[in-house]
Order: sequence, then structure tokens, then C-alpha cells
Amino acid sequence: MATHTSTARLALTRRPRRLRRTEAIRSLVRETRLTPDCFILPLFVCEGRGVRREVSSMPGVFQLSVDEAVKEAAAAKADGVPGVLLFGLPDSKDATGSKASDPDAPVQSAVRAMKREIRDLIVITDVCLCEYTSHGHCGILEGEEILNDVTVAHVADAALSHAVAGADFVAPSDMMDGRVAAIRTLLDERGLDRTGIMSYAAKYCSAFYGPFRDAADSAPQFGDRRSHQMDPANVEEALREVETDIEEGADIIMVKPALHYLDVISRVKRQFNQPTAAYHVSGEYAMLKLAVAKGWIDERRGMLETLTAIKRAGADIIITYYARDAARALHEKPRA
Ligand code: PBG
Repeated sequence: MATHTSTARLALTRRPRRLRRTEAIRSLVRETRLTPDCFILPLFVCEGRGVRREVSSMPGVFQLSVDEAVKEAAAAKADGVPGVLLFGLPDSKDATGSKASDPDAPVQSAVRAMKREIRDLIVITDVCLCEYTSHGHCGILEGEEILNDVTVAHVADAALSHAVAGADFVAPSDMMDGRVAAIRTLLDERGLDRTGIMSYAAKYCSAFYGPFRDAADSAPQFGDRRSHQMDPANVEEALREVETDIEEGADIIMVKPALHYLDVISRVKRQFNQPTAAYHVSGEYAMLKLAVAKGWIDERRGMLETLTAIKRAGADIIITYYARDAARALHEKPRA
């Protein structure tokens, strides 16, 4: 006969549930606070005017011409997102990705327009050749090999053109050796010492960039990126990469992707205690979007839990396609 009624009492000194009783108490003892001021929204900027083309594998993400990208950045700023990360989609590509440093290409034009029209917006530019090369590789090829030092010279030129346009930070994502030092030296020679460097320091060779390559039309035409992006199995190597980039002059270091590399974010933040960014990449976004579309996961909760986890791991800055949605969700009253 069950006689365990409301009179049952355990003699406990610790009752963790006391701190979970109401939303006010939960909020009082919350360890990680997700706020929109750590979000950066990536934008894909293409040629033309009035272009707003949705990326099929990334619902809610668009290829935008400069005028539309400026509108999107302004709307993001109004939502409370402090900055954007720009990717360029040129009309024409060649073997050396020469459009990467063209002052009139989409990224450089968008930087000028955004800095002119949107007050206090932080404008960061992705620096890599893969969106600009006809073969889709991140560098200059000799046969099927990516030449490191020649590529670095091109990457530094691209970064310089972004800095001249007025970017607050340039973000090299190519993973060539020595690019941070080369960029810092070139910028300083040109008097651009105020332009910062956010380096993709620990960028893994990940399957989760798939939808991005759709968006940027940058899938390599042969081979893969294993000769420069990191092996997903390594973490000590990530620490060496980060240390190298800090020594070379990186102001902010990044771990990418985010969700499958929370341990890496955590170790990088603890070991170096530098401003640390994490990139919640296209595939991570697409997986959640797809499950949401199927009705399997609640979008608001899934999104905020994901971003909270990235912050809890140690990221100060989160680059995410969800930046605007999350900023708006965080402005709503919490549900009790
Ligand atoms: C360019 C670059 C990539 C991403 C950011 N910068 C693609 C790649 O390395 O293939 C991926 C971003 C994402 O998946 O959201 N090198």
C-alpha cells in the first residue's frame, strides 16, 4: 500500500531546486547571460542593385547587392546587433582571385556605404580567395598544390583593400601560414594601424561549411581544404595556431565551427584569455532550420540554447546567421 503522501520529508542540506523555483530566482543565479552585443551577422554581398536572393540551403539568409546589404545591416543594428561580417560574391572569377582586392568589388563598396550610412556599425570583412578563384581554392595553385607564401601576398592585398575602404577589422579565413603577420605589416606600412585583425585562428576542415559554399559558390572544383584547414581530431594544434596568430598580431581570435568545437573554445579562452570569437557556421544553422521546418525542434528555444552554449564555453563574440532573430528574441520579455 503506497503511503508516500505530502507528509514525506527527506533530511537534505542541499536542495538545488530551491534556485530553480521562479524565473526571477533563476535569473538571479544565471551564470551565462546571452546579450545581443556579442553577435555578429554574416552577410553575402553580390553585384547589381535591388538583389535579394534567398540561399536555398539557408532559409532566412540572402545574397544581397550593396544597397540591400546596407538595408540589412541597418536593420540588424536597429535590432541591437552591433556588427556584420561581409563575404563577397563577384560576377567574374579567375585563377588568382584578382577581384578579391578590387576597390570596386562588392565587399569594398559595401564597407564604404555601411561606414558612411550606419552610425557605429562594426564592419568586419572576411578575407579569403576562395570566393574569387575560378577553381574555388583558397589560394594560388601550382598544379594541385596551394602555394603558401604567394597566396599570403594576395590575401594581404585583399585585406589592405578592405582596410582602405574603412573596415574596422579584417578577418583572414584562408589558414595560410604567416598571413596575420603579413597583413599587420602591410596595414601598418600604409598607416592603417587602427584597423584590427580578427583571425580565423583555429578553423577546422569541416563538413558543416556545405551550405556556405552554396551561398558563396566557393566549393573547390577538385580536392578539399585539408592541406590548410585543421584536422577535426586536434586540439593541441588549435592552441598552437591561436598562439601563433596572437604573436603575429591578431586582436581577436576565432574558433570555427562552434558547436562541435566547444571544448576548443573553452581551452582557447582559458589558456590565452584574449577576445575570442566563435563562428556558428552555415551547416549548424541549416541543421536547426531543417528540424524546425519539420516541427521537430522549437526554433526560439533551440536557437537560444545553442547560442548560450557557445557563450558558456567561453566565446565573447558569436558570429551567427541567427544574430537578428536572437537579438529580437532577447528583447522580448522572458517567459516566466
Ligand atoms: C572562406 C570561408 C568559409 C566560411 C567562412 N569563410 C568557407 C570555407 O572555408 O570553405 C564558412 C562559413 C560558414 O559555413 O558559415 N574560406
